[in-house]
Amino acid sequence: MAVLTILHYPDPRLRERAEPVPEVTSEIRALVSDMAETMYAAPGVGLAAPQVGVSKRIFVIDIADEDEPSQLQVFINPEILHLDGSIVWKEGCLSFPDVAEEIRRAERVRVRAIGLEGQPFELEAEGLLAVAIQHEHDHLEGVLMVDKLSAIKRKLVGRKVAKAVRA
Ligand code: NI
Repeated sequence: MAVLTILHYPDPRLRERAEPVPEVTSEIRALVSDMAETMYAAPGVGLAAPQVGVSKRIFVIDIADEDEPSQLQVFINPEILHLDGSIVWKEGCLSFPDVAEEIRRAERVRVRAIGLEGQPFELEAEGLLAVAIQHEHDHLEGVLMVDKLSAIKRKLVGRKVAKAVRA
């Protein structure tokens, strides 16, 4: 296991569309375990493979509170099947240190993905988990939280990240 380096905005690798995973091999499982370790070390509630410079359609999420047992959820080749409702959540992102911005997304999501054992599954989520799934799925498309903000806010966020990364 290893803590991987997280890429920060505006690294161009965060803008690439990630490639599907043809098979869940032991290398993929090792990558997922490194991604989980990296997310917990940060700490964060989600991390997508492009954020550690790996252009693969994988993300991990754990929305358990600090005083709850960890509950790692692994999504390989995820597809969003359905979105509905509307919710505004103050989101952060490990590629945007020190940034928290209110973003509007769907309140409920239905997603299909492959798990760590190669098994397909479907999941319906709402609230924070639904927000996290949409946020991480965006990373696989090269879409970032700043894309949801006004041009002025985007500029401010860019400066904030640059300052946090220098510090
Ligand atoms: Ni993110």
